[in-house]
Amino acid sequence: MPAQNMEELVSLCKRRGFIFQGSEIYGGLQGFYDYGPLGVELKNNIKAAWWRSNVYERDDMEGLDSSIIMHRMVLRHSGHEATFSDPMVDNRKTKKRYRLDHLVKEQKPAVQAAVAEAMGESLENFPALVAALVKRPADASAALISAGVRDSHSGETGDWTEPKPFNMMFKTTIGPTADEDSFGYLRPETAQGIFTNFKNVVDATSRRLPFGIAQIGKAFRNEITPRNFIFRVRELEQMEIEFFCTPGTDEDWHAHWLEKRLSWWEAQGVPRSKIEILDVPKEDLAHYSKRTYDLMYDYPTLGHEEIEGIANRSDYDLGSHTKAQAELGLVASVEENLDSVAKLTIPHPETNKPVVPFVIEPSAGVDRALLAVMSEAFTKETLENGSERIVLKLKPHLAPIKVAVIPLARNREEITALARQIKADLQRLGLGRVLYEDSGNIGKAYRRHDEVGTPFCVTVDFDTFGLGGEGKVSDPALLGTVTVRDRDTLAQERVRVDELSAWIRARLA
Ligand code: GAP
Repeated sequence: MPAQNMEELVSLCKRRGFIFQGSEIYGGLQGFYDYGPLGVELKNNIKAAWWRSNVYERDDMEGLDSSIIMHRMVLRHSGHEATFSDPMVDNRKTKKRYRLDHLVKEQKPAVQAAVAEAMGESLENFPALVAALVKRPADASAALISAGVRDSHSGETGDWTEPKPFNMMFKTTIGPTADEDSFGYLRPETAQGIFTNFKNVVDATSRRLPFGIAQIGKAFRNEITPRNFIFRVRELEQMEIEFFCTPGTDEDWHAHWLEKRLSWWEAQGVPRSKIEILDVPKEDLAHYSKRTYDLMYDYPTLGHEEIEGIANRSDYDLGSHTKAQAELGLVASVEENLDSVAKLTIPHPETNKPVVPFVIEPSAGVDRALLAVMSEAFTKETLENGSERIVLKLKPHLAPIKVAVIPLARNREEITALARQIKADLQRLGLGRVLYEDSGNIGKAYRRHDEVGTPFCVTVDFDTFGLGGEGKVSDPALLGTVTVRDRDTLAQERVRVDELSAWIRARLA
């Protein structure tokens, strides 16, 4: 059974070195997390699985790694300067700031209903209520006060200001200058790096429609209220595809990607039955979107929340960057731009005339993926002897450690030397991290590896050398064999050392 609540996961992540609070020794920085020794492995494995499936296993995809800090003009003409904001409201009494929709959602149902009534909206259509609060700030302030909306910190009713938009982009200065205009933005989505490199990739690869560009990388959002562990953070990582297609074929490609992405999640151990598909209501769509499906995973404690968005961005981005270049005088006119194929156009596959392609964008968060994968894998079992074990039943390709090699006696040279040799041989298979583990008692080592999801533990013992040990006579049949323990079944099998690599490869590759 998957994790029942977020606390269980948070506790495991900290205890076993998956995730730590950012800048923790100075009291922590809200919305920033560091991935520890096991977290970095799990994260890398998720990203590798995504890249394998979306780049290597397809013939219509190219990869990219674009820079994080971007020219301010990119984010102006993408529409982010004007619209990438969340509504913010302040409590004059406590001086605390809140994201308006989160604040209202956290209230008791009667208070939410009173806000809706004061605004003349229905609570059933929450996005429309939020839109009304944003559009009529003076009414919104009065409604929040009269409905008795409480401050989540103090628990008291608040004296609420008019909501105002808060732009979530991080700015940073560029170069040693005091000039106020010398700043860039940390990208709020990796997507813009793909759009700005569209022409470079087309020229370098001679791609024709339809094809996609995939990118994995960091994005930054100055969230008003980061929360729920790594679910809503200010520094996040995204796995994004911009799939370029001929206008008119976009809806079919949208359906294609929805199906593809659901099967990918299934292959990572996140079943379809735990994901609801939300056809995002018009009033809730991002500024660039013609239609978006949000995949809503049923997170422990949080309930259904977005793990991935699959948007039809139409020709919004390439179109507006093309127009911007004409306006800035970088090309003579929009017409020239569209006709010359000089900029962000590509030949139509049938007419050969330049066309601004439509874009389907599957965009998944790595941090949210990690949380979902861990949550599904988290299992508590009661063993036959009545004891309880926590085991992370991760798909083997995602497991941070593939095999732990354990010498049963740390002071016996032949045992430790063979264990080290086995570690080196298994590491050479290239399946991921293999750990030489001689940190203590074998029972504790098994428990630790169950909790971090290691599929196999290999133990080199006295029987491997026909030595018996602890007063036992060794069974000659065990000579040259090691014990392999299976994480999920707990079965222990003796495998010949000279057959071990093939045995492991057959089960993990
Ligand atoms: N390029 C499209 C885009 O960025 P989005 O729905 O804003 O769309 C895509 O983000 C994905 O990025 C989300 O589905 C989520 O998994 C992840 N994401 C967005 N904001 C996040 C945050 N503050 N913390 C963690 N993950 C986030």
